[in-house]
Amino acid sequence: MNRTKILRLIQSDTPMNAVCITGWVRTKRDSKEFSFIEVNDGSCLKNMQVIAGNTLSNYDDIKRLKTGSAVTVTGNMVASQGKGQKWEIQADRLHIISLTDDSYPLQKKRHSDEFLRDLAHLRPRTNKYGALFRIRSELSYAVHKFFRDRGFIHIHTPIITGLDCEGAGELFKVTTLDLENLQKKCGKIDYTVDFFGKEANLTVSGQLSAEMFALALGDVYTFGPTFRAENSNTRRHAAEFWMVEPEMAFCDLEGDMALSEEMVKYLTAYILNTCQEDLEIFTKFVDKSLLSTLENIANSDYIRLPYETSIEILKRSGKSFEYPIDFGKDLQSEHERYLTEQYFKKPVIIFNFPKETKPFYMRLNDDLKTVAAMDVLVPGIGEIIGGSQREERLDILESRMQEMNLSQEKYWWYMDSRKFGSVPHSGFGLGFERLLMLLTGVSNIRDVIPFPRTPNSIEF
Ligand code: 4AD
Ligand code: MG
Repeated sequence: MNRTKILRLIQSDTPMNAVCITGWVRTKRDSKEFSFIEVNDGSCLKNMQVIAGNTLSNYDDIKRLKTGSAVTVTGNMVASQGKGQKWEIQADRLHIISLTDDSYPLQKKRHSDEFLRDLAHLRPRTNKYGALFRIRSELSYAVHKFFRDRGFIHIHTPIITGLDCEGAGELFKVTTLDLENLQKKCGKIDYTVDFFGKEANLTVSGQLSAEMFALALGDVYTFGPTFRAENSNTRRHAAEFWMVEPEMAFCDLEGDMALSEEMVKYLTAYILNTCQEDLEIFTKFVDKSLLSTLENIANSDYIRLPYETSIEILKRSGKSFEYPIDFGKDLQSEHERYLTEQYFKKPVIIFNFPKETKPFYMRLNDDLKTVAAMDVLVPGIGEIIGGSQREERLDILESRMQEMNLSQEKYWWYMDSRKFGSVPHSGFGLGFERLLMLLTGVSNIRDVIPFPRTPNSIEF
């Protein structure tokens, strides 16, 4: 008999005969003649209540079922007499697929996030993490839908690259060299004998590749894993995270900011509309004001603020920040959060940053001091998006690269795109996990990734 997902059964308006479900036992209560078994199959937050009567031939075994055991149940789905559920299944047959024992760690109803982090292989079986990863899946789908509906073309950019897009040197090396017996040439490691014949690393951003495709296909995006070996053990940094990166030809910073706002609003509204049940877990147990925060993100007009003005506001704030702020300095998370949480109380897009704080590819403004960069800041997180208009003028790009000691030879193909049919273009990167943190109120990035990678942590 084919199984039916519990989600489908719960949505039914009418009783159904002879249904079959498969799943894991969440709880079991026994009365004299029956056992009430809550079964969850991961398709939705809700469990299906199963009534197993003592007339079932294997009732003795059923009575020994423990939380976490796997079962197949067949029977009629009828209106439930009990509170809390519309339907229940009166089991004709309850087949035990596998048992579990008392050492199963998810016995108690609620566990701390820290406890569950050490059980990343089991935590999707809890209500909260099941809900979280269903929302993550919906969000991923919504990203593709957003771009597809707007005529963007999806590009699979490489994960192994030879360049450091952001120039921050936070690279994980990729090599097949024998690390115990490194061959050196003139005191340096000889990468000509490595797999690719030169140095290679995991990408920190798909942007440079995406730019090449925007300059051919117009509007494109890439959405994939990116890697950063920054040794910052914060609640919003992971060594492996996913980034959504649109890149648009014939688009300036204004258009870039407009798309970033449209996208954050769209994705927030999408999750509000499609994940109501799963979101409830987070409004109940994580952040009571989550829904009003999300309504604010989905419906308010985002502030557009030049970097220079943001510095003035921060200096005037009278706050004693851990990192003192001045023109020319990068905004720290505490500054970002003050602006978006306390000062404006809604998302803020900061633009025109000092060129010294930003990578080589950003377009130099006419003041020759700032670049056409933008960061989107949101309450609870700070920076969620970083982007810019790209430098399309070959001569200025060359002099910027010289200033920053970057080898133009290494970037020869990137330079080519400025020689042949260069056009104004812009793009940005959205941190997918940071968006998921915003949408669920979860405050640690480790709790929105199936198996998080952070410094000193790669157990699973
Ligand atoms: O601001 P970033 O470094 O921008 C870029 O990489 C550009 N090349 C993107 C582009 O223009 N196509 O990173 C973009 C976003 C950040 O705003 C943040 O949300 C997220 O990526 N991010 C991280 N998320 C989790 N862990 C980390 N270590 C992150 N570093 C950046
Ligand atoms: Mg950034």
